[in-house]
Amino acid sequence: MIEEFHLVTRNTTSLVEVFMTLGKDYMNQTAENKREIFLQSMVDLQGQPNRWLLLYENKKEYVGFAHVRYGGDRPDWGWILEFYIKPECRRKGLGTQLYDKCESILREKNASSFWLTTNPEAVKFWESLGYEKMGVIAEFNDYEIMEKHIPKF
Ligand SMILES: CC(C)(COP(=O)(O)OP(=O)(O)OC[C@H]1O[C@@H](n2cnc3c(N)ncnc32)[C@H](O)[C@@H]1OP(=O)(O)O)[C@@H](O)C(=O)NCCC(=O)NCCS
Repeated sequence: MIEEFHLVTRNTTSLVEVFMTLGKDYMNQTAENKREIFLQSMVDLQGQPNRWLLLYENKKEYVGFAHVRYGGDRPDWGWILEFYIKPECRRKGLGTQLYDKCESILREKNASSFWLTTNPEAVKFWESLGYEKMGVIAEFNDYEIMEKHIPKF
């Protein structure tokens, strides 16, 4: 199999280990103790309905992860909470493939609107996927809110 999306849960020990390793780089600006607590808290939330933590395996290599949710602060919306591709694997379309998987999971729940908060470096990536800046800064992380809307069928 060339690519696979693995669902991380509290019981998938080896996947949790991979996620924690990738998460270290994702959060490399955060102090180690805080980083571990945050990453573990993400794992602990898994198993809740309408929440997915996906590890992306491409050509036998774990290349990134995404944490997504249906509902939450905005009922009926898809929410991209965390999203990461390893530095050496970027600009090869892998982020787009991981995103497409996330969106298809959320569409299966009937989401037609999607949102996220972005760091400035990722804005172009989200724009390439159809997201638009809303001109609003999220209070919880000081990042800009972006949204995407697709027609309902
Ligand atoms: C943002 C991120 C997920 C993009 O992953 P990726 O695998 O490189 O994305 P893709 O290769 O699918 O890029 C698709 C398109 O997005 C745009 N894009 C992606 N990264 C870009 C960058 N750094 N600068 C400008 N445009 C960019 C380009 O249009 C690109 O198409 P192209 O390579 O043909 O020009 C990755 O850089 C990353 O993990 N960054 C660190 C974590 C992060 O910022 N996560 C987002 C949190 S909000």
